[in-house]
Amino acid sequence: MAEEGMSGRDSRTGAADPRFAERRDAARDRLDDLFGAKGGDKDDRCAWFNAVYDTAEGDAAAVPWADLAPKAALVDWLGDHPGGGARALDVGCGLGDNAEALAAAGYKTTAFDLAQRAIDWARQRFPGSPVHYTAADLFAPPTDWADAFDLVHECYTVQALHGDLREASFAALARLVKPGGRLLVLTRSRADGVETSGPPWPLSPGELSGFEAAGLRLSESTAYDVQKGERIIPHIRAVYVKAA
Ligand SMILES: C[S@@+](CC[C@H](N)C(=O)[O-])C[C@H]1O[C@@H](n2cnc3c(N)ncnc32)[C@H](O)[C@@H]1O
Repeated sequence: MAEEGMSGRDSRTGAADPRFAERRDAARDRLDDLFGAKGGDKDDRCAWFNAVYDTAEGDAAAVPWADLAPKAALVDWLGDHPGGGARALDVGCGLGDNAEALAAAGYKTTAFDLAQRAIDWARQRFPGSPVHYTAADLFAPPTDWADAFDLVHECYTVQALHGDLREASFAALARLVKPGGRLLVLTRSRADGVETSGPPWPLSPGELSGFEAAGLRLSESTAYDVQKGERIIPHIRAVYVKAA
């Protein structure tokens, strides 16, 4: 499985946008200089994520992770695992493309992000969507989300966290899965022991075992590459199950 990142399309018209990559590069430079870009505590990172959406002024090129399309590795998996009305939760949903793919595959989907502006933007992009978009914090979710979702989908949020927050994210995600349900994780990957200077901070197999320490069982793991321009970026798609 291989996937190509970043569509480079105008988020409003869908037309090919020749200046997209240029504006994204400029945004990356600007965002890297903001407080909280390279780590920090929970408040620092929250402030940075909010600043990304607040300063983008409606231009998806200025949101570094916005592909304006669902991840191919997700769509591929959903082809074999349709929802049939089961409940799904999309974590750190950003501009909503993955959540829309979950809903299109038959999941009754809730999607959340800590950034209210991301939620507003997703609602604006997908008017009339069946997805329930809501602002929430992975580390302080609504109490009725505990053990509630047949499928929890996490794409690129853990790799955007560092230190204590990253450590806490494994249990925080596991808690949301219903007994008998699944957690689907898409992430950049690296070998154990290989240093990385994020963000993002790719996950190693040793770190991914944090989901097992949080009570889940690994049921599938697939390595794949994402090509961005000249770069080939190793990824893992992993599925974990919570005992019924
Ligand atoms: C790297 S982006 C990935 C966005 C999306 N999942 C995707 O695949 O394009 C990480 C997202 O997680 C959100 N986020 C970060 N920390 C969060 C938290 N504690 N609770 C909820 N969302 C969070 C950010 O605002 C951002 O939209």
